[in-house]
Amino acid sequence: MSKKYNSISIVGSQWGDEGKGKITNYLSKNIDMVVRYQGGNNAGHSIVIKEKRYTLHSIPSGIFDPNIRNIMSNGMVINPIALLKELSILKKQGIDKYQLFISDRAHIVMPYHILLDEIYENSKGKDKIGTTKKGIGPAYTDKSSRIGIRFVDFLDDELFKKILKNNIKNKNKIFKSYGEMEISFNKIYNQYKKIRNEIEHMIVDTSIMVYEALENGEKVLFEGAQGVLLCLDHGTFPFVTSSSPTSSSIPVNVGIPIHMINKSLGIVKAYSTRVGTGGFPTEFNNKISDFIRNVGNEYGTTTGRPRRVGWFDACLVRHAARVSGFTDITITLLDVLTGLDTLKIATSYIINNKETKYVPASRKDFNEAKPVYVELKGWKKDISNVKSFDELPLNAKKYLKAIEKHVGVKISQLSVGPEKNQTIDINEMFNNKGKNDK
Ligand code: GDP
Ligand code: IMO
Ligand code: MG
Repeated sequence: MSKKYNSISIVGSQWGDEGKGKITNYLSKNIDMVVRYQGGNNAGHSIVIKEKRYTLHSIPSGIFDPNIRNIMSNGMVINPIALLKELSILKKQGIDKYQLFISDRAHIVMPYHILLDEIYENSKGKDKIGTTKKGIGPAYTDKSSRIGIRFVDFLDDELFKKILKNNIKNKNKIFKSYGEMEISFNKIYNQYKKIRNEIEHMIVDTSIMVYEALENGEKVLFEGAQGVLLCLDHGTFPFVTSSSPTSSSIPVNVGIPIHMINKSLGIVKAYSTRVGTGGFPTEFNNKISDFIRNVGNEYGTTTGRPRRVGWFDACLVRHAARVSGFTDITITLLDVLTGLDTLKIATSYIINNKETKYVPASRKDFNEAKPVYVELKGWKKDISNVKSFDELPLNAKKYLKAIEKHVGVKISQLSVGPEKNQTIDINEMFNNKGKNDK
């Protein structure tokens, strides 16, 4: 029999902000390692611990437990200046004992990436993506173009200087062509040189660390950022991010073999939201969407933008479950829907007069997709302190059963509020003992 590993991937199943941070933190009890496997500080993972709210952008959600090794893997693009700022905010909030490691193969987000993100967005006019303007797209572009700077290169001053000089020369040509100010090598070089000694002790070959942890039977969580519909390959292109949040991306993004990922947990918001532009078949704007936005506090964790709101779209989540291989799903923010008379679930789309259950590749088709809904009755009773599935009002149970049926994956957890104790386990996610088990 092949060896069983103790790992779970945590994947956003819609357009991000499904509550991945909360669930990663919830599942991190007695685990050994949390690995962020893609994206950068475009993410905003908000975690509430004993009524205190923490916001993480690049840092994995295991940072609150000093026994957990937190890994920022090679698949991430990391802005070291923003990372140090994030750490200093955590320190002010009393989080100063932690274990954090950066992959030597991860790429660095440089100041020119942020400027380019802004320039490219502005040049697109009404077709803009609505990026977070953190330089994510341009940083991944440089990685693909093989001109990006990795952390291991940053440690080698001569090499860093050489690549940086070249890159700045080329970027300045772009800035000039857009009528923008040129940037100075000396300024950026000195700024980065200054912070090198603050981060060099964290830079290691994280692929070896994760591999060995899993081989030793330790419990590992892979924490995704964004969501599958923002995936560069399987999302609603071009209104996507520049990495792949799917669990299938983890082997490459972390440097481990495929068979080391045991379970894949899709984090599923009980309705839909999206920040940024792009098609959104179940979106609606009325008193009900305002109610959901207010109760769910649906404002971007990173940018503060109001999130667009829509009904639950089973086509999207089925798509995410297929490309990401969800073994289980967690339904989050269920409490937000309390008080609504009627709830809708999109089960298919009508596109060009034909019914389809799939998410089309064409942006035009997706923009024109008319959802086919099933309607269910809502519930009035407050569920934010419910401790078991059985205690839920009948209509909430029916809503969950309908989601399970239309998505086709078993619900293993429910989240009915931002705090850890507002989580209901339906199935145990980890089944073996890990190194940190007491
Ligand atoms: P992430 O990016 O997937 O980690 O999600 P965000 O942190 O951006 O957004 C989720 C928001 O919902 C955060 O403010 C969480 O504190 C909050 N949250 C998470 N789960 C629940 C839940 O079950 N109910 C409610 N009311 N809030 C939740
Ligand atoms: P978490 O991890 C929601 C969206 C942006 C934009 C698109 C591209 O908190 O779920 P980018 O800056 O990545 O080039 O922007 O992706 N986006 C997110 N939306 N949650 C996120 O992360 C997101 N990260 C990026 O709004 O539409
Ligand atoms: Mg978020």
